[in-house]
Amino acid sequence: MPHAAPDPHRLRQRFPGDFAWGTATASYQIEGAVAEDGRARSIWDDYCRRPGAILGGDTGDITCDHYHRYREDAALLGWLGAGYYRFSLAWPRLIPDGRGPLNRRGVDFYHRLLDELDRHGIQPWVTIYHWDLPSVLQERHGGWAGRATVDAYADFAVAVHAEFGDRIRHWTTLNEPFCSAFYGYASGTQAPGITDERQAVAAGHHLLLGHGRAVAAMRAERPDNHFGITLNLSPTVPAGDDPADHDGARRIDARKNRFFLDPLFRGGYPADLRAEVGQLFDGLIQDGDLAAIGQPLDFLGVNYYRRFVVRGAATPAPGEPPTPYVGCSDLTFADSGRPRTQMGWEIDPEGLRDLLVRLSADYPVPPLYVTENGMARADTPDPDGRVDDPERVDYLHSHLTACADARDRGVDLRGYFVWSALDNFEWSLGLERRFGLIHVDYPTQRRTPKTSAHWYRTLVRTADPQERS
Ligand code: FCB
Repeated sequence: MPHAAPDPHRLRQRFPGDFAWGTATASYQIEGAVAEDGRARSIWDDYCRRPGAILGGDTGDITCDHYHRYREDAALLGWLGAGYYRFSLAWPRLIPDGRGPLNRRGVDFYHRLLDELDRHGIQPWVTIYHWDLPSVLQERHGGWAGRATVDAYADFAVAVHAEFGDRIRHWTTLNEPFCSAFYGYASGTQAPGITDERQAVAAGHHLLLGHGRAVAAMRAERPDNHFGITLNLSPTVPAGDDPADHDGARRIDARKNRFFLDPLFRGGYPADLRAEVGQLFDGLIQDGDLAAIGQPLDFLGVNYYRRFVVRGAATPAPGEPPTPYVGCSDLTFADSGRPRTQMGWEIDPEGLRDLLVRLSADYPVPPLYVTENGMARADTPDPDGRVDDPERVDYLHSHLTACADARDRGVDLRGYFVWSALDNFEWSLGLERRFGLIHVDYPTQRRTPKTSAHWYRTLVRTADPQERS
C-alpha cells in the first residue's frame, strides 16, 4: 500500500499566520573544520577520542562540513521556506582560550552565515551554548562543575551578543542543561564523560546560574531582544499501580523537569529533590544565586522527544552504566508498546500535548516554542537517488497535531522547529542516526531533501487562511 501523506494544508490552518516555523542544528553536530581558523578543542573533540565512547568511532571532525558549505545549506533552507533557523555558536571557535577576546576568523564565519540566511529571507535564532565547551575550561576549572565556568560563560554570552545582537533577535542561552549536567557528569554518556553525582548537581546549578547572569547582562545591553532557554522536558508516568512506580515517576520528574523549571520559574530547587539528595547541594548555592537564575524570560524553548514510563524498586543490573538521575539507581523505564524510532524512543505525540498543557498550568511560563522535535530513521537513498521517509512525515504531522491541540487548550505556543535541518553527528550515537529533513551522504557531502522536507515545505509555504481572506 502506498503511504498516503497526511494533509499539510489542513494542519497549517490550525496555526496562526505569525506562528514561527523553523529547523534546528548545532555547531559541533554540523560544522566540522575543528582545527581551522583558530578553533580550539572542545570537550566533545576530546570525548570522541575515548575508545568506545561513540558508536562506530565517529567524530565531529568533518560531519556535514557546514563550515565550508554554509552557502549551499542556507540556500537549501531558503528552498525549504521555514522562516526561522536555529543554530548554535561554537565557543571554542569564537573564544578559543575559553575567556578573552573574540577570534575574528570565527566571528567572520558567523557573519557570513548570517549574510546568507538574510539573503534567503531566513531569521536566525541562536543558541549560545549547545554543549561544545572549550576543553581549556574543563582542564582549568573542571568544566561546569566549577563555578569559574559561570563567569567564563557569562562573558562569552555578553561578547557574542555585543557582536551579533543587532543581527539576531532571539537568544537561547543554553540547550538542554539536563544533558550537559547529568549525562555529562553523572552517567558519563556525554562529554566530558564524568560519573560523579556531586559534580553533576554542581554542573546543573552552574549552568542555570550562567543562564541567569547572561540574560541579565545581555538584556541590559539590548532590552528589545528576546531571551530564553531551551529545556528537554518529558512527561513521567508510573508503569503500573504499584506505589513504587508512582513515586518513581515523581522522582524522575524532579530530576528531569523540575530541577530546571523550579529555579527558573519558582525561585528554588524542588523540596522533594532537596529532601532526597540534599547532600549533593552542600556548599553549592551562594547568596543571590537563585535570584540571578530567576530572570524574567521572553520565551521558554521546549525540546520534546519522549515520555518516560517509570518502574520503581528494581535491582540495578550488574554492568549497567550509572543513571543520569541522581539517587535513582533503583528505577527503570518500561515500554508502553508504541512504535519506536531508530533511537529506540517510543513515538508519543500526546506526550507533547500533555507536557505543553502541564507547563502552562503549573508554571508562570512565558510564550513557549518547541525548539526541537523530530525522529531518527535509517534513511537510505533509493536507486534513483530519492530518500523516502514516510514515518518521519507521520511523526511530524502527529506532533504538530499535538501542538495544535495544546494551542486549542489555551497554551501560548508560538513556534515549532524540526530537529534537524540536516542529518548530522548525533553525539554518542555518531553519524548513523539520521534526524535530518535533508539527507547528507557523508563521503560525497551530497545533500538530498527527503520526502519529509518536501512535506514540511508545503506545510510552511501554505498561506495563512486569514491572510487569504
Ligand atoms: C537533543 C539535542 C540535539 C539532538 C537531539 C536528537 O537532545 O539537543 O542536539 O542531538 O537531541
